[in-house]
Parts: sequence; C-alpha cells; structure tokens
Amino acid sequence: MSIIQTKTYQNLRDKLKNIMPDFEIQQKAELAVKINRLKKERGAVILGHNYMEPGLYHSIPDFKGDSFELSRQAAQTQCDPIIFCGVRFMAETAKILNPEKTVLIPSLEAGCSLAASITANDVKQLRKRFPGVPVVTYINTYADVKAESDICCTSGNAQAVIESLNSQTVIFLPDEYLAKNVARECGKHIIFPVDKPIPQKLQDPNIEYHLVGWHGKCEVHEEFTVEDVENVRKQFPEVLVLAHPECSPEVVESADFSGSTTAIIRFVENSKAKNYLLLTECSMADNIVAENPDKEMLQLCSVRCPHMNQITLEDTLDALSHNQYEITVPRDIQRRAKKAVDRMLTIH
Ligand code: 13P
Ligand code: SF4
Repeated sequence: MSIIQTKTYQNLRDKLKNIMPDFEIQQKAELAVKINRLKKERGAVILGHNYMEPGLYHSIPDFKGDSFELSRQAAQTQCDPIIFCGVRFMAETAKILNPEKTVLIPSLEAGCSLAASITANDVKQLRKRFPGVPVVTYINTYADVKAESDICCTSGNAQAVIESLNSQTVIFLPDEYLAKNVARECGKHIIFPVDKPIPQKLQDPNIEYHLVGWHGKCEVHEEFTVEDVENVRKQFPEVLVLAHPECSPEVVESADFSGSTTAIIRFVENSKAKNYLLLTECSMADNIVAENPDKEMLQLCSVRCPHMNQITLEDTLDALSHNQYEITVPRDIQRRAKKAVDRMLTIH
C-alpha cells in the first residue's frame, strides 16, 4: 500500500469502524484513492450532499453540505469540472451557476419526486391565475421550473426568502409539506387552488397574507408518521426526534427540532443528549455517528431515497474517467433560472 492509500484507509477506518466491516472500508478506500488522484489530475471539485453513503461522504467530497451550502460552493468554485454527488436538480443548479463549466453527475437515475411533481407549464398557469403574485420555488425543482420563478429557496432559508418578498401573497412551490410548515412558522394562511376554487377576494384583509401551495411531496419524508414518533418515544423516552421540514406538519410538530440536513447535523453536534431519531434519509444518521461517536442514532431505514442512493464511489470514478454524465441546460432557461438562484443566494 502507498502512503496515500494507507492514509485514506486509516481516515476512513477511524470514522467508519463501528458502521461497516473492515473489508468494505478497504474496498471503499481503494476507490477513493483512485477518485482523488483523478480529481487532482483533472482540476475537478467534488460536491457531496449530506445524504451520500458514509464511505463516499467521508472520503472524496471537497465540500459537503445541504442544498443551500452546496449551491453557495457551486457559485464560488474556480474548479472545472464540477462533480456533483447528489441528485439531478442539485447538479443542474451547479450548471445554472456555472454555464461555462462542465458539471457531471455520476448517475442518470438520481431524480427526485419533488422535482418531478411540477412542470414549467404548471408555474405559467399559476401565474395566470394569480397575476402579479411572486413565485418562490424550492431548490428541489428542475431548471425550467426555476426559470419561471422569481426566487428559489431551500429548506434552510424558506421563511427568510418569503419574508424578503414583502408581498401579501406568495406562490410557494412545489412541496406541500414544506409550504405548510413554513406557513405555520410565519403564522400565514395557505391555500391549495388545485383543490378549492380561488377565494373571491384573495387578499382578505383579515389574513396577513396567503401562501399558494402545490401538492408535491418527497417520497421519503411523506412516509414518516406521528405514530412512528409516538412508538419510538414510548420505547426510548430519552430520545430527541429531529425531522426534516419535508415531513408532514403533524410529524414536524411532534418532533423536538426541524431544520435542513445541515441544521440537523449542527443540532446533534451542539446537543448534549445521547439518543436521537432522525426523520430523514438514513445515511445521514451514519454520517453523523461517524463524526460524533459518543452519540447514538435510532434509524427508520425502511424507506431510503432511491435517487440519492444511486450515487456510488464506483459511478463517481466512472464519471471522472469517462466525463459522464454531463448536465446541460438550454441557455435561455439557464439565464432566467440563474436570476432566481442568484437572488436566493443574497438572502441569509
Ligand atoms: P437539504 O437542503 O435540507 O439538504 O434537503 C435536500 C433534500 O433533498 C431533502 O430531502
Ligand atoms: Fe427528493 Fe426526497 Fe430524495 Fe430529497 S429525499 S432528493 S426530496 S426524493
């Protein structure tokens, strides 16, 4: 073994020895060494979402984070190509911010049920029904949908983005649960015009302002129930329950904390409690334990994000070796979508 191989293996083993068998750590370390060598040769940067599997997460990304942090890194990087270990809408956001650079995603199968829930035409129709009302789209949307919106948001800044608009009514797309959770936090009333006729007078003076929502859902977070939380609390009375805001409002209300994936990681790092239940993609629990060996995570791993799980070390090596799979965004869509993403990046 070369010095680099030994160092990579030892680093991974220090983090993952309680999570995976040694032979698997060795195998992952070998792949990581090849990837990191090629990354250096090509002048590439690897961005890795918090949901990446622990072997990948702890060995190859130059930057790790939630959707907001990775968008920021994508906006600032000087490297080319950008390899995005996350799902397609994230890689597209990197391309929107870097139209002249090559952006690669290791698997074409890495979609997202939220991003698939709405089209650019749906946004156009909503604009017609609510003329003059600003449109906020969650970062979990494709470039053509972002291009139709005024500003993007992530789970970490949704409330700040809505408040920045200073508008009595805001169209907030496409996540129904995130919209309901944000509406509750802001004390706002939310309507879903697909279900009900639009109120005669949308801007009711008795209601501070409305959110206009859409029925998109995350196929992972919609699976968690209040019953799950109650059962776990009965069995483990000390447990702290941490829910991503893509969970239903009832689940979020039954949790002890809700926030973006990075906000959840920070919460655990700063908390003295020992036991946690994460209501989000369960690879993240392994990633947190690897960095915080004194903490214990209960996991509801029966539901995994099938899209995030497509991204492997093997595919990332292929991505760098064969320059695949290149993300493309038509120029006009890229330009309009960039305005919405750039505007979001000015909000803290
Ligand atoms: P974060 O922006 O909180 O990382 O969430 C991204 C995501 O896809 C959650 O399912
Ligand atoms: Fe999309 Fe849900 Fe997977 Fe996140 S966890 S990428 S929102 S399907």
